[in-house]
Amino acid sequence: MNSMLNDLRFCIHTFGCQMNKHDSERVVGMLEALGSLQVQTIEEADLVIFMTCCVREAADVRLRGQVNSMKNIPVRPGSPTGKRHVAIGGCIGQRDGEKLVQELPNVDIVFGTMNLSALPRLIADAIGQEKAQVEVLEKSLEFPTSLPSHREKNWSAWLPITIGCNNFCTYCIVPYVRGREKSRPLEDIAKEARGLVLSGAKEITLLGQNVNSYGRDLYGDARFAQVLDAVHESGIRYLRFATSHPKDLNDEVIERIGSLERVAPALHLAVQSGSDRILKAMNRRYTAEHYLGLVEKVRKARPDIALSTDIIVGFPGETEEDFQATYDLVKTVGYTQVFTFIYSPREGTPAAKMPNDTPREVIQDRFDRLREIVECKAWEANRRDQDAEIEVLVESVNRKDPQAVSGRSPKNQNVHVTLPAGQNPAELVGSVVSARVADARPWFLRAEYTGLVER
Ligand code: SAH
Ligand code: SF4
Ligand code: F3S
Repeated sequence: MNSMLNDLRFCIHTFGCQMNKHDSERVVGMLEALGSLQVQTIEEADLVIFMTCCVREAADVRLRGQVNSMKNIPVRPGSPTGKRHVAIGGCIGQRDGEKLVQELPNVDIVFGTMNLSALPRLIADAIGQEKAQVEVLEKSLEFPTSLPSHREKNWSAWLPITIGCNNFCTYCIVPYVRGREKSRPLEDIAKEARGLVLSGAKEITLLGQNVNSYGRDLYGDARFAQVLDAVHESGIRYLRFATSHPKDLNDEVIERIGSLERVAPALHLAVQSGSDRILKAMNRRYTAEHYLGLVEKVRKARPDIALSTDIIVGFPGETEEDFQATYDLVKTVGYTQVFTFIYSPREGTPAAKMPNDTPREVIQDRFDRLREIVECKAWEANRRDQDAEIEVLVESVNRKDPQAVSGRSPKNQNVHVTLPAGQNPAELVGSVVSARVADARPWFLRAEYTGLVER
């Protein structure tokens, strides 16, 4: 098998959430360990891997378009296989399995979210074969963390603490394509965190569909606060986590957000709607009042915290009054970032069967109004940092200004930092710098470099 994978050139296209992005790092790590070579374009590749997402219809449609359009790209001269192979993994692979091969005849390999480690075998079996290799499992065999990983950015690492989800929000496909929630032992997490710090990570983001319920399946009670303690111990500079379900964010975790200094002052707390009636229909299991109570507690524990959220507009049966409740909640909380989505029915979920007769234009109009208030409040929040001196973890040289770098602040704001003449921007990528905010915009800050904090 190894000889077939040796020198194989592959590229990977990833859609969807951080779980998928992290799975892709494992796929790259695994194939590189077997001698394959990652390339950036389809033209150069002998194998194209799509890591797919089906959380909304748009992502589904896009995948089919991309796979179809690949037929027109000629095979790479010198390709050892004489053909360009196509593999589909991730959540659509998990959901559709065999069906994908029937719909998209140029697909050679389908794998799911539960068997990343099967990919090298499936590739070896697919090369030189007419028949497609399809393998999708009901349950995961292992945590993907047991596989080698190729971190996209050396300074920043994802660390999955749970996989799957037990919440079954009525609109959501994730529990069906990622399975039930499964926690990793605390010692494994702590050990991986220490390894990541030693290998140069400055930022760790703990991942789970609901990090707050971590441990229930393993220990009988939720132990996310203990995860925060253990990972904080590793000495990581910025500790982040995503995402938190409001029904499970408890006082113990809020206390840690306040007391652990290396926990970054940013919390993503998905609200989805501000209307209790809609929250109930969504099976979210909290009220707007409970949510606002959490916001108050978190802000008391950590006054500088930046809050972000996810909101769905146009859930079945949403009235103008329901929407207004969402609008008012956004106005009250004042998020620095809101991911807004128009509801997209997903076959197999309970909400897909609910009557839904709100006209498209009405939903679009609500969506536009929501975007306006989101922008207005995000700008207001950023303006509070005008003239402040902040830290920035540099991610890249600025795309427009070659004498500037871009990165993120501890609050997760996008920051563009202008450098003095003579300061080499490329050398700062992966470093932490300090900068003074010169101009606060709704979606980013412009700042002036004041010094190097950590190389
Ligand atoms: N587990 C995470 C969310 C994962 S999905 C959490 O609960 O916070 C990311 C976001 O996609 C969700 O928060 C929700 O806002 C949105 N989403 C999920 N299903 C959707 C659907 N059917 N239509 C529109 N948006 C959806
Ligand atoms: Fe989906 Fe709800 Fe689970 Fe998040 S908590 S993944 S929205 S079912
Ligand atoms: Fe999409 Fe799967 Fe994540 S459906 S949002 S990639 S868990």
